[in-house]
Amino acid sequence: AIDIAKLRDETGHITIDSGYKNTGATKSAITFLDGELGILRYRGYSIEELAEKATFLEVAYLLIYGELPTTEQYAAFENDIKMHTIVNEDMRKIFEGFPVNAHPMGVLSAMVCAMSAFYTGDKAGADELNIIRLMAKMPSMATWSYKKSQGHPVNYPNNSLDYCSNFLNMMFALPVAPYQVNPVVAAALNKLLILHADHEQNCSTSTVRLVGSSHASLYASISAGINALSGPLHGGANQEVIEMLEAIKADGGDTAKYIAMAKDKNSGFRLMGFGHRVYKNFDPRARIIKKAADDVLAALGINDPVLKIASELEAAALSDEYFVARKLYPNVDFYSGIIYRALGIPTDMFTVMFAIGRLPGWIAQWKEMKANKEPIGRPRQVYVGATERAYVNIADRK
Ligand code: ACO
Repeated sequence: AIDIAKLRDETGHITIDSGYKNTGATKSAITFLDGELGILRYRGYSIEELAEKATFLEVAYLLIYGELPTTEQYAAFENDIKMHTIVNEDMRKIFEGFPVNAHPMGVLSAMVCAMSAFYTGDKAGADELNIIRLMAKMPSMATWSYKKSQGHPVNYPNNSLDYCSNFLNMMFALPVAPYQVNPVVAAALNKLLILHADHEQNCSTSTVRLVGSSHASLYASISAGINALSGPLHGGANQEVIEMLEAIKADGGDTAKYIAMAKDKNSGFRLMGFGHRVYKNFDPRARIIKKAADDVLAALGINDPVLKIASELEAAALSDEYFVARKLYPNVDFYSGIIYRALGIPTDMFTVMFAIGRLPGWIAQWKEMKANKEPIGRPRQVYVGATERAYVNIADRK
């Protein structure tokens, strides 16, 4: 019999790079990231400056179209989005079938995927329209899960509000009382969404590009990205961080015990919100978020005991040889949950917030992949299974 694995070994070369630690899948002009120096730039603009000065929609425009918008371009972009914030009422029937305790990430990915069935048939300019539809409708649909969990009616979008305020209004307004968006809360949300907006070829973004490379629709690609983001080693970490901090608090606040557990490979426990595939010095987003968390809690007059535990944990880890040797630092997720909580966002919605922020990055990457006419993504493997075997009739099998 021909030993195919052996033959391949002799005739072809496949590079194995498990987890793609050193394999570039594309050239990209969207986001620059230097993990050693802790630099992150969108289209050449530093994350620090954008988080300080820009609106989320400006950043979305920058990522998707390549340049910061002029006043006219910004107004047109914002207006286009406002014209599409309402979701087809029949999509609500799909939504109503989900159980009340469904995880909002599962619901969101399903609803975004369903958009491909509802919003088709626009031949010319379809991509551009679908981009606007996603930017417009995803926040609306995201709020439905929260409203359902509360047993409250959903809110329709209010086009007199900006992007972040509109989201907050859909989340928290009730028919029985007027809701005033707190500018501190809207500004903090704006900053968080900017920090999440793109991060080059991470797991969810690579997924979006890979799925899109088969010429699957933008909706199908983004839905796949949402699923990739949901994992606890990726975007799902922000929910896990708060749950971990709560557990430490409930357990008496003994951070040393949890540091020891994280170092013990047999414990199955990792310090959530620590470590990053690319950042080996610090995560610049974490620095901005830590300061924002302090500012938001002070402005809202909130004294959150888990912030104290987070600070203790960070200090203990950063002075521990295990974490130092492995270059494990707090990542973007470590402090984002503390801010989301202060803004009134429930824990199981944290990763959804991440997805809303990451959406323009996914769109920009999908668009770039398409514009570059990239070939279908199709990784190879090295086969390590059985060599050729003869079929054995079921009656003769031992
Ligand atoms: N706690 C304890 N040990 C850790 C942690 C952690 N959070 N992260 C990594 N390590 C250890 C590993 O056990 C490994 O140790 P070893 O060399 O002795 O075997 C070493 O550090 C390297 O870790 P890897 O898992 O190989 O690193 P990788 O780059 O594959 O993983 C990841 C990066 C997934 C972020 C990892 O650090 C992790 O699981 N962190 C916790 C989850 C988290 O916060 N995810 C959010 C990432 S940011 C984002 O997606 C937005």
